[in-house]
Amino acid sequence: MKFWRRKKITPVDILAGYANWAKNYPAQAHNPLMEIEQQAMLSLLPDNLNGKMCLDLACGSGRYLLLMQQRSATQLVGTDYSPEMLVKASYQLPIINYQLSRAPFFPLPFAAETFDLITCGLAVGHEKNLNRIVAEVARVLRPGGQFVYSDFHPFGRLLGWQRTFTAENGAVFSLEHYLHLYSHHQQACHAAGLTIDAVLEPLAGPKAPPEARHIPAVLVIRAVKIGDKESGRL
Ligand SMILES: C[S@@+](CC[C@H](N)C(=O)[O-])C[C@H]1O[C@@H](n2cnc3c(N)ncnc32)[C@H](O)[C@@H]1O
Repeated sequence: MKFWRRKKITPVDILAGYANWAKNYPAQAHNPLMEIEQQAMLSLLPDNLNGKMCLDLACGSGRYLLLMQQRSATQLVGTDYSPEMLVKASYQLPIINYQLSRAPFFPLPFAAETFDLITCGLAVGHEKNLNRIVAEVARVLRPGGQFVYSDFHPFGRLLGWQRTFTAENGAVFSLEHYLHLYSHHQQACHAAGLTIDAVLEPLAGPKAPPEARHIPAVLVIRAVKIGDKESGRL
């Protein structure tokens, strides 16, 4: 999944792509872009999640479920649309108390105001309708709860970087990815009653080729559900 790759690439749809990729998708950051993204995401997450209801949306093989567990979360839920990624997560997670459900970004199979924290790593770009994702997140988030999420930076998308993976036979595939500018995130959050209180745009950095190093690799956002002062939970 090198974001600066310049090779022959075959498009594949999301479900088929992740069905294939799941076999080699560990629940750890496994490329330079994920390392950069994870560091930024972790810097925006609360240090102590003990007693908090946490959802990892589009959890894939469970990377953020594990990371939240390391921050003492005990009530963990992961959702993803790919059955293969969920199977991978269920094999990889040494977590004692978690629940995995197959679900798209919307609708989510949870009651309103269920979660204190919702994370979503490198997934919202797979869906065209960002407003609906954020509105559904806002619905299931408790007042004062946080939504901490990342996406490939729109600059990379505009420069023609693709979301790719390499199959076991060496073939390279690209996955559908939509352009969501920062203004789109801001509008989606505002419309859903979330206030963005932190934004990070870490650069691709020294592991990228020289021409890409100064370009932001990911956009990481923390948004808080507006509520009355007493209802803040994190
Ligand atoms: C790049 S992976 C990231 C996985 C995980 N969040 C992480 O950061 O390690 C993107 C995930 O988004 C999921 N996904 C893509 N489109 C989705 C949708 N419409 N609804 C739910 N999950 C989706 C994929 O199945 C995949 O597991």
